[in-house]
Amino acid sequence: MQFEVWAKGLATLNVDCVVLGVFEDGELAEEGQSADSASGGYLKKVLARGDFSGRSGETLLLTDISGMTATRALLTGLGSRKSFGRKSWRRSLGHAITAISKTRIASIAVALDRPPAKEVDDYYFGRIVGEVVGSTLYRVNDLKTNKKPKAVALQKVVAGPVRKAGIEDAERGLAHGQAVSSAASLQRDLANLPANVCTPTYLGDQARALAKQYTSLRVQVLDEAAIKKEKMGCLLAVSQGSHEAPRFIVLEHRAGKSDSPPVVLVGKGVTFDTGGISLKDPGGMDEMKFDMSGAAAVMASMSLVAKLRLPMRVIGLIAAVENMPSGHAVKPGDIATSAAGLTVEILNTDAEGRLILCDALNYARRFSPAAVVDIATLTGACVIALGHHHSGAFGNNDDLVRELVEAGVRADDRAWHMPLTEEYADQLKSNFADFANVGGREGGAITAAAFLGKFTQGLKWAHLDVAGTAYQGGAQKGSTGRPTPLLADFLIHRAGL
Ligand code: BES
Ligand code: MN
Ligand code: ZN
Repeated sequence: MQFEVWAKGLATLNVDCVVLGVFEDGELAEEGQSADSASGGYLKKVLARGDFSGRSGETLLLTDISGMTATRALLTGLGSRKSFGRKSWRRSLGHAITAISKTRIASIAVALDRPPAKEVDDYYFGRIVGEVVGSTLYRVNDLKTNKKPKAVALQKVVAGPVRKAGIEDAERGLAHGQAVSSAASLQRDLANLPANVCTPTYLGDQARALAKQYTSLRVQVLDEAAIKKEKMGCLLAVSQGSHEAPRFIVLEHRAGKSDSPPVVLVGKGVTFDTGGISLKDPGGMDEMKFDMSGAAAVMASMSLVAKLRLPMRVIGLIAAVENMPSGHAVKPGDIATSAAGLTVEILNTDAEGRLILCDALNYARRFSPAAVVDIATLTGACVIALGHHHSGAFGNNDDLVRELVEAGVRADDRAWHMPLTEEYADQLKSNFADFANVGGREGGAITAAAFLGKFTQGLKWAHLDVAGTAYQGGAQKGSTGRPTPLLADFLIHRAGL
């Protein structure tokens, strides 16, 4: 996809179609007015007939327009003028791209009226256009044999209007938005794969392939023997019930001042979570193929920092295992010794994410990181607490958590700061080991975070529980690509770009 910015002269832009906004009162938004006069009042005549309401979600393609270089116009509902802002604009843009994708239109000028500058500046204008075009055109990598989707004709998007002084910012935004959407697509592709394809070994191979693609990336994939050498007893306890071998992946990006302490991202990569001996109910268990979404988000973020050559050091750690019941599986009451040396009584084998993450977080220590952020579909309790709109953000450093929350607001990929005070850790007491891996139903997302907190003392650490946000069920079942936009914004900001 080719992206450009336009500043003025909508009527003379050399594109197939202009995308215009219409408010609910049936009034053409500002950019539409100029197109209307160029076309000799044709657009207003159409609207006067009352065939188009301007409600959000509605689009109408007009053809054979004269007086403009573009011969087509897509009227796009912007909803009510009063509530028009970042959110409704973003949504309308998505609807417009969906409508365009069903046609043979190869190039468009986006000329929807822009939300107020304090809501969307020139950089985020470009960023959102780049992102929305990419995410709207995303197609699930399904394995259907006789239903190949038609290729999308759209090749070029020219976005505006942008005043002269803002062109550079908008262009940078477009480039970043494109990078964010292709990173999110990578997350979605990986997470949407079935667990018989996307195994820990597969994730290791994909990490190697990614490192081949970018010179700034280096990769190391630890196999079971190497993981044993690292004494990752908790990770191995989860993995031992499966025929699939575990992998521990280390991806490193270095550019610019590469001696500075790195940001370390840690991803939960449970390629399938049956619950183990503490077996899950069958209903909806297929969704546990998404239990590697954290790992996929780390892979996606590493691809983004490499693609944008962010001048910083970023390390991605992925703990990849499959959680299965079997004659070799770990049993409730078994005690494992973590790489940190602390012992854990595994009271529930379905609380496996924290077990693999505690060993991964301990591995992060060797890099003396500036910050460590783990990303995990960790608890059903987080879905109960926050639903599907916010990821849960926890940590032992409020500034770092706030930094992530703010990145989420800017990226329209929001997270909510959850409490993590010391009293929650009391629920993890065990009579037989240093801790139990579960702390009862109450505050389940927080006690899971508190467990990780036991292994991150002295680190600047935050934890994103994305169980409710990384994928969706129902008719639209599939990966959402979250929280890659949040992580991308966090990293781009840290890099000072
Ligand atoms: N992968 C699940 C968490 C999950 C649940 C993600 C629902 C997405 C949707 C995790 O490994 C898990 O099973 N957690 C348990 C913890 C419990 C045993 C303390 C849970 O949430 O039920
Ligand atoms: Mn589980
Ligand atoms: Zn899990």
